[in-house]
Amino acid sequence: MALDKFGRSISYLRISLTDHCNLRCVYCMPEDMTFRPNAELMQDDEIILFTRLFASLGFHKIRLTGGEPTVRANIVDLVEQISDTPGVRSLSITTNGIMLSQLASPLARAGLDRVNISLDTLDPEKFRRLTRWGKLEDVWDGVQAAEDAGLTPIKINAVVVRGYNERDVLEISRLTLEHAWQVRLIEMMPFAGATDLQVNQVVNWEEMYQHIESAFGPLETVGDGKLDGEARLFHLPGAIGDIGFISSVTKPFCATCNRARLTADGRLRLCLLRENEVDLLTPLRKGASLGELRQMILDGIWHKPWGHGLEQGIIPLNRMMSEIGG
Ligand code: 5AD
Ligand code: SF4
Repeated sequence: MALDKFGRSISYLRISLTDHCNLRCVYCMPEDMTFRPNAELMQDDEIILFTRLFASLGFHKIRLTGGEPTVRANIVDLVEQISDTPGVRSLSITTNGIMLSQLASPLARAGLDRVNISLDTLDPEKFRRLTRWGKLEDVWDGVQAAEDAGLTPIKINAVVVRGYNERDVLEISRLTLEHAWQVRLIEMMPFAGATDLQVNQVVNWEEMYQHIESAFGPLETVGDGKLDGEARLFHLPGAIGDIGFISSVTKPFCATCNRARLTADGRLRLCLLRENEVDLLTPLRKGASLGELRQMILDGIWHKPWGHGLEQGIIPLNRMMSEIGG
């Protein structure tokens, strides 16, 4: 089991399969984004080797992220191999949903358990403005396909950006009246890339909460107000789904954090909002043994940070969100 110096046991690995994406969300990357050359990214066999290694250290929950993980060639084979890895008990993916109408069913057959789908607004015009390139209908078809394929419970992620979609939280919340989904409203976080917008247009979770209560009446707490992963859950009276608030900026959840990340270029990222990383891919390519890699992982996890430095103006600038995978 991988433990850190604060006594947290770390068992959830998020693997970024690629920094590439088929959208260009304004809060994530510039329109003329340049991506890493493929040779710098982990290759399929390297991803599988790392998965085995992490699983043998007690990482039993895996999430695949990007960029956009579904644009990776061989995604279905990769999912199959990862889900077959001894020790992996739960495998999910975070996607923008554009490719899901084609991929949901093959991915489910390959062993994928669940999906989180990013959807920031239900208005087609605004969706295009936020994603620059996206067609809302494609995502909507993707959500349907995921539900039909049994990739449930479906979680919908909405990053809330002032001036773009702060009022859309109402329509998005309303989805929970008719769908057994968990809709998660996310505070925007700052990284390299789109930083001015990320710093100046954050909507904090209390504002979202009050906006929803003033429209629908009091929200009911789900599960005694305990965190479900990173989300604080509530529901609307009579709703069949839940609304979660992810307040990483204003109320971080470090005490219950059990996650580590593998970036698309094979670095162990210890906290989303801190720059600390351990390069695993370079040593692997230089011939490090499994025992050496295992020790590098354990040493890295031990030093997992606690708390971000956003109030002190410390923004993680060594990477963009799309290379870490959220
Ligand atoms: N802040 C918060 N969430 C973000 N995402 C992308 N960029 C940011 C950001 N700056 C979200 C995506 C997706 C998940 C992987 O992270 O919309 O839902
Ligand atoms: Fe792509 Fe996700 Fe970034 Fe949007 S937020 S550009 S979908 S990686």
